[in-house]
Amino acid sequence: MPAEPAEPPPPPGPSRRTFVATTAAVGGAVAAGGTPAASAAPAAARPPAGRVSLTVNGERHTLTVDNRTSLLDLLREHLALTGTKKGCDAGACGACTVLVDGRRVNACLTLAIRLEGAEVTTIEGLAPGAPAADDGELHPLQRAFIEHDAFQCGFCTSGQLMSAAACIREGHTGSATEIREWMSGNLCRCGCYTNIVKAVGQAAAHRK
Ligand code: FES
Ligand code: FES
Repeated sequence: MPAEPAEPPPPPGPSRRTFVATTAAVGGAVAAGGTPAASAAPAAARPPAGRVSLTVNGERHTLTVDNRTSLLDLLREHLALTGTKKGCDAGACGACTVLVDGRRVNACLTLAIRLEGAEVTTIEGLAPGAPAADDGELHPLQRAFIEHDAFQCGFCTSGQLMSAAACIREGHTGSATEIREWMSGNLCRCGCYTNIVKAVGQAAAHRK
């Protein structure tokens, strides 16, 4: 009987057993929340912070903020002024509209650190005497929105009101079409546009 051929010698390098043991150890480290090189990696640098002084609804504030902080986050997170809403956080919906030096801006796209010395007005400061007065007096626009039922869920309403206040001051309320055009940056998912336009028109007429 011919002799059986001898088994070839194992290839050089780690054996299968060594390879499996090594990958299991690495996998365990990753599952535990780290990476094999994590301990050697340098700690992430802290984001740079800066100081900014600005006036919000007539009140002066000096704050230290991360340079990337938006005006929207400064208002909501640092000053607890949550009337200004975060919809898209990308400049597309107008829910975050506030006035900066009398001009409407999307607070989500405005860097807080660039507002040194600025005067900011939010929905909390729109009504006459606000925010100090807490006697329930409403701005004519707020009254008009209620009279015309110009909201459903209300999420867009503070942005609509701030934008409408600027729209009236800018003189873009000559017709329903003009109001629609100049309020077109403020979206309403509830579709209250017809009544919003009527409310803005009424408040504009009341101002004349
Ligand atoms: S949240 Fe700023 S535009 Fe939508
Ligand atoms: S009232 Fe609901 S989004 Fe405008």
